[in-house]
Amino acid sequence: MALASESRHGMWSSRWLFVLAAAGSAVGIGNIWKFPYMAGENGGGAFVLIYLVCVALVGIPIMMSEVLLGREGRSSPITTMRKLTESAKRHPLWVFIGWMGVLAGFLILSYYAVVAGWAMNYVWLTAAGTFDNATAEVASTTFDAFLASPWQLILWQTLFMIITIWIIGRGVTQGLETAIRLFMPMLFLLLVTLLVYAVNSGGFEQGVAFMFDVDYSAFAKPEIWIIAMGQAFFTLSLGMGAMMAYGAYVPENVNIGSTVLTIAILDTSVAVGAGLAIFPIVFANGLDAAQGPGLMFVTVPLAFGQLPLGAVFGTLFFVLVSFAALTSAISISEPALAYLVEEYNAKRKRVAISLGVICWLLGLGSVFSFNLWADVHIVGELTFFDFVDYVSQNIMLPLGGMLIAIFAVWLLPKTVLAKQLGIESRAVSVLWKFVGGILAPLCVLAVFVYTLWPVIAELVARVRELLG
Ligand code: TRP
Repeated sequence: MALASESRHGMWSSRWLFVLAAAGSAVGIGNIWKFPYMAGENGGGAFVLIYLVCVALVGIPIMMSEVLLGREGRSSPITTMRKLTESAKRHPLWVFIGWMGVLAGFLILSYYAVVAGWAMNYVWLTAAGTFDNATAEVASTTFDAFLASPWQLILWQTLFMIITIWIIGRGVTQGLETAIRLFMPMLFLLLVTLLVYAVNSGGFEQGVAFMFDVDYSAFAKPEIWIIAMGQAFFTLSLGMGAMMAYGAYVPENVNIGSTVLTIAILDTSVAVGAGLAIFPIVFANGLDAAQGPGLMFVTVPLAFGQLPLGAVFGTLFFVLVSFAALTSAISISEPALAYLVEEYNAKRKRVAISLGVICWLLGLGSVFSFNLWADVHIVGELTFFDFVDYVSQNIMLPLGGMLIAIFAVWLLPKTVLAKQLGIESRAVSVLWKFVGGILAPLCVLAVFVYTLWPVIAELVARVRELLG
């Protein structure tokens, strides 16, 4: 049963525009900032390999599930899940997927805005010539000094939030399309420029080796699995309903499988490209690959600082990164926003402002994690920022994604599934069921059990001790 052929929030005007919007969501600071720094912290090759396998085997089928559920429901993830559980006569508890997604969205956007603010500040710094012929030392101290100032961080975080609120208040399908058309290809071009620089930097071989030489002993560390898998979800914008929300605006005639594949390839090439640009610079300058969140903010200015017209290109680079962050932030807020508009018939603008204020407040915790609260640990060694990041990326997104795939493959009526995916042959149907319905959820489960087992075992042991 088709529920509606159009969404009340608007529609993408073509397949290509959906590809651009979804790629705009997927490509963000997760690719350019987070992927290299996570790979750096987790030893390179083994991490990159797990990440790539997760994108292919887990990410792609789950993205297909999200988009198809969204297109069938044509509403916000919560309303979509409500409609689909009703029409398929499934337990209403499945709507939990939608709620968890909204919560994850708040958590993610709260710190995403903080880091996006860093990129905006770097537009400014680069334009002012701060990094002209800078040494690694200058690049590092500039970054550290910036992080040490809560006021500066708040200033840029606030600016980023205001721009985001302003745009989401107007609706996603309007206005943004033209901008994405122009900026995404430009970002690609600038990444290529950086790559060319990296190839000639003297550290290229080492960089490539770091990213692709797999140290098999690293697989024995349970943490690396959950972090790499979480990164695959994060970078593809999966597990919290963002793609479901965007799926709701996809026209009927678009082929979901091939479209999702295009998006995943675009996203992965930007991440791998960013790694290949950044690690050579790290090694050529004797920097630390495992230095954490500052990695991109130290290496990229350093490289542009040594190029002719570096200040111009460097500025442009950070403008594009900020823009990529903006198109991602928009998609993070869309599930909650669309839901509130539907449920309360509220004005988009008002809802946008309320959501923005909550995210902004929550984001202050991340701001302070880099200065005032640097020594406050929520659990183990994790600061507030680390904790919010860990729980949302590594636990909520994979859990949400797993449930989404199970629901889409096993609980939707067969006719709906076949119609949405355009499946005609039995073989394709069997393959889809195997990959989407068994392999992907099982991989998530296996990683959860493997990584969280020691934690669970310890909890059990403690409880036993308590009970004597
Ligand atoms: N994928 C984006 C990035 O790589 C971030 C993002 C946008 C996201 N929407 C999301 C992450 C939804 C998780 C869930 O920067």
